[in-house]
Amino acid sequence: MSRVEKMADEQYNQLFKALDSLCEGETDQITLMATIACELYHAFDRFDWVGFYRNVGNETLKVGPYQGSHGCLTIPFESGVCGKCAREKAVQNVRDVNAIPHHIACSATTRSEIVVPILDGRGDLIAVLDIDSNTPAAFDELDEENLTKLTRYFRS
Ligand code: SME
Repeated sequence: MSRVEKMADEQYNQLFKALDSLCEGETDQITLMATIACELYHAFDRFDWVGFYRNVGNETLKVGPYQGSHGCLTIPFESGVCGKCAREKAVQNVRDVNAIPHHIACSATTRSEIVVPILDGRGDLIAVLDIDSNTPAAFDELDEENLTKLTRYFRS
């Protein structure tokens, strides 16, 4: 593991320690999303927008708790990186948002983006977690792995 990877690993360890204690016993999904968005946004300088898009039915996502400048309000499953994540229930790690035609630009400064599905205990989609960065290729496998673990707070 490189020095940079070790630092990120340590940051995730700290993050999960904080979230374990903050979220213990909490089952309200909006409360969990607000707390997780806040902790993630403040933990990593390269995370410039952090938020959740909630599955509200009818193949539609609506913005939930977030940190950063305003995000678009509604995303149909058929659109955007978030929609693709919702359709496939699979992590989308976009190293260059300008290279993919289906990316929806909410901010002109965004260069890369990661979107992670948040599933309940039955495997149904609750929401997607969307993180934008002004740094190109800001996300790696360590981010994919750790951000996927956030699903555990929504299992109860
Ligand atoms: N870029 C996303 C839209 C949401 S904003 O980034 C906050 C997408 O393509 O789905």
